[in-house]
Amino acid sequence: MPSNVDALRLRPLISAERIQKRLDELAAEIDAHYQGDSVLAVCVLKGGFMFFSDLVKRLTLPLELDFLRISSYGQATRSSGELRLTKDSDLPIRGSRVLLIDDIIDTGRSMDFLYRLVLERDPATLDTCVLVDKHERREIPFEPDFVGFPVAEGFIVGYGMDCAEQFRNLDAIYVYTEA
Ligand code: IMP
Ligand code: MG
Repeated sequence: MPSNVDALRLRPLISAERIQKRLDELAAEIDAHYQGDSVLAVCVLKGGFMFFSDLVKRLTLPLELDFLRISSYGQATRSSGELRLTKDSDLPIRGSRVLLIDDIIDTGRSMDFLYRLVLERDPATLDTCVLVDKHERREIPFEPDFVGFPVAEGFIVGYGMDCAEQFRNLDAIYVYTEA
């Protein structure tokens, strides 16, 4: 934890050990699903970076990696409501088996937006994977194909997830409480 002030606002929710153990299971699930086929794994920046990095290390499939970025949340713990693609992926999607990987699904707007965007480019298959699913807050019906942890409570930070760009580097997940 970075400092005493931050420590007051961060309540441990999922330990680094639990995350790493769950990633072993998730990678096995994904390996089994694709049965040795080539996969184009696409990381949703910035939040997905740590999850993506730890997950792809465990996969034994022939993998291509790519990155895209959308802006969803602004500098606060509330949705800005507006979604924009601010960095596109580079590799061809047409005919590829695409796996979209993000940190967290909340209202479902980001995943729905990305799913439609990728689908328009004619992938052979399209699946989605998130570390955290805040399913109770869904506003658009969307079920990710692979989920690390269902979470019911609060706004969470760490392991890629931020509050105003802070805490992305933490190796565990915390509930953030505003002062
Ligand atoms: P959605 O569009 O509401 O599903 O939100 C998805 C995006 O919002 C995620 O990729 C995160 O970047 C961000 N987000 C949603 N909930 C949280 C949270 O609890 N902590 C940090 N970021 C979040
Ligand atoms: Mg995100």
